[in-house]
Amino acid sequence: MSAASPTRQPKRIKARFIGPLAITLTFIMCVFAVAIYGIETSIRDRDLAERSAAVAKLFAQKLDKDTNLMLATLHAMMANGAMQEAFRRGDRAALAQLGGELFRSLSSAHRITHLYFIRPDLVSLYRFHSPAEFGDEIQRVTLQQAREEQKAAHGLELGPMGTLTLRLVMPWRQNGELLGYLEIGEEIEHLLDEIRHSLAIDLLVLVDKRYLTLAQWQRGLDLMQRSGNWERFGTHAVLAQTAEQLPAALDERLLRQLLGGRAAEISDFGRSVHLASVPILDAGARQIGELVLMRDITALESTFQWSIVAVILISLLAAGVVLGIFYLALERVERDYRRQHDLEHQLLRLDSEHRRILQLEKLSAVGTMVGGIAHQLNNPLVGVVNLAQLAEREADDPERTRELLREIRSAGEDCRDFVKRMLGFSKVSCFEGKPTPMAELIEDTVLLFRQAENRHLPVEVRLPEQPVVLTVDPILIRHALFNLLLNAAQATADGEGGIEISLERGEDKERNLPGWTLAVTDHGRGMPPEVMERIFVPFYTTRSDGTGLGLPVVQHVALLHDGQVTVASEPGHGTRFAIWLPDTV
Ligand SMILES: Nc1ncnc2c1ncn2[C@@H]1O[C@H](COP(=O)(O)OP(=O)(O)O)[C@@H](O)[C@H]1O
Ligand SMILES: [Mg+2]
Repeated sequence: MSAASPTRQPKRIKARFIGPLAITLTFIMCVFAVAIYGIETSIRDRDLAERSAAVAKLFAQKLDKDTNLMLATLHAMMANGAMQEAFRRGDRAALAQLGGELFRSLSSAHRITHLYFIRPDLVSLYRFHSPAEFGDEIQRVTLQQAREEQKAAHGLELGPMGTLTLRLVMPWRQNGELLGYLEIGEEIEHLLDEIRHSLAIDLLVLVDKRYLTLAQWQRGLDLMQRSGNWERFGTHAVLAQTAEQLPAALDERLLRQLLGGRAAEISDFGRSVHLASVPILDAGARQIGELVLMRDITALESTFQWSIVAVILISLLAAGVVLGIFYLALERVERDYRRQHDLEHQLLRLDSEHRRILQLEKLSAVGTMVGGIAHQLNNPLVGVVNLAQLAEREADDPERTRELLREIRSAGEDCRDFVKRMLGFSKVSCFEGKPTPMAELIEDTVLLFRQAENRHLPVEVRLPEQPVVLTVDPILIRHALFNLLLNAAQATADGEGGIEISLERGEDKERNLPGWTLAVTDHGRGMPPEVMERIFVPFYTTRSDGTGLGLPVVQHVALLHDGQVTVASEPGHGTRFAIWLPDTV
């Protein structure tokens, strides 16, 4: 007996889903973390780029502001008639006296570090910041520009001391006559500190070594009383810095990266520093160096790291919750699945047991049949043997012998009849269907039944008003109906009532087929359940003279017509046998 692998284990749904789900969630989390990292990095880089732009702008603004201040100062000086006269005369003593006080106050209040009177031939007449030096020709770019264009010229200039100075030169004309040039200037170092304070950024001024000699640079350092390392960068020298110490990682390679316009991030004694650079142009529009921006982003970085850790933790938590919910849901699904699987398993087992029982039933039916046949044949045969013995013994009495022989023949005839009935039973399988008016068939059978049944039990026939014609084998149906009538009569004692035959519409509910129900109802003794269970088994009978073949024949006939037999019985009240026949066979 084959059952669809009832022992197979139910599939582990949880294991199948949770793994891939966990992998998917992890993947999503990784993508999320990488995206957050990318966004934060780009925000940080943009912030630094904005700060670099702000530094460049602030630097230019401060230079402009100071230039304007210097311009106003020079205008004020030019308005001084006495000074004008002294300049025209080339009177150094008068100039020193007239401008000395002004220079001191400019230098203390506004960090003005240079103030010159220069003759039209560009030879210095008086240096307020270094009165002893004079008579030398000055060749600075700002002065050249002022002479060529005959108007004010300004810009940053790298001085001989290796210092960066903002200079403003103005031609001084009087009634169309050029008296000479006024030059004013300031060291820009204090600007760096101002920028540092406004933008919280450290600055480093680097000058291209092509525009500076080691001696100049050294002199500048001595002047400022600072120490420096000329060799630190191959191409550039450090001119000024706001930080006390430069990061160790800021080397030649990193500088080249900055000069290439790329920002960099380094760590310096546990601090994170972000670097970028802005070019410095002098008055002649030459790129003489770089302003390197150094921003301490340690706090920003740690906020950044914390936010990533927080995002990852929150996503982990969310993923855990999602996994948990899924786990519970799958647990339920798996439980239902397992229950269903167990049910199927049980059903399969029941089915196989049912088949086994059917098999046993069949075997027991065969046993009953064989027993029935043996019993039916045994009785007359025992009689034949006994009678033959008797006849042997009483062979002298011809009369008696003849009588015994008659009885022997009668027993033999019983056997033959029985065998004939059996043969009749086997013939029931020949089926010849033809359209048959059912009313006539029923009437004929009732007539036949009345002849065979001598108790004259009343038989009531109930037929539909319209004639019913069914394609059936009339001989077989008549035979079946006759058997049912006979059984009904045999079950009905005198005075228990009559028999009813009915033909009415009915349908096979299971197959949803229309058809007709031919029923025989009696009010006799009925059947207990244990009898009802076995009535269709061939040779099963409760009557001493019964054959047990009537109902099997009825069932066989119904099946040949693609119909079925149903029975309802109540002990003591009666029985109803119904043959259902489909509309067309
Ligand atoms: N109408 C009925 N009322 C009560 N019992 C019945 C009825 N029809 C059949 N039976 C029972 O079914 C048994 C089998 O019937 P059947 O196959 O016709 O064989 P038989 O009539 O030879 O006994 C009967 O012995 C009887 O016990
Ligand atoms: Mg019978």
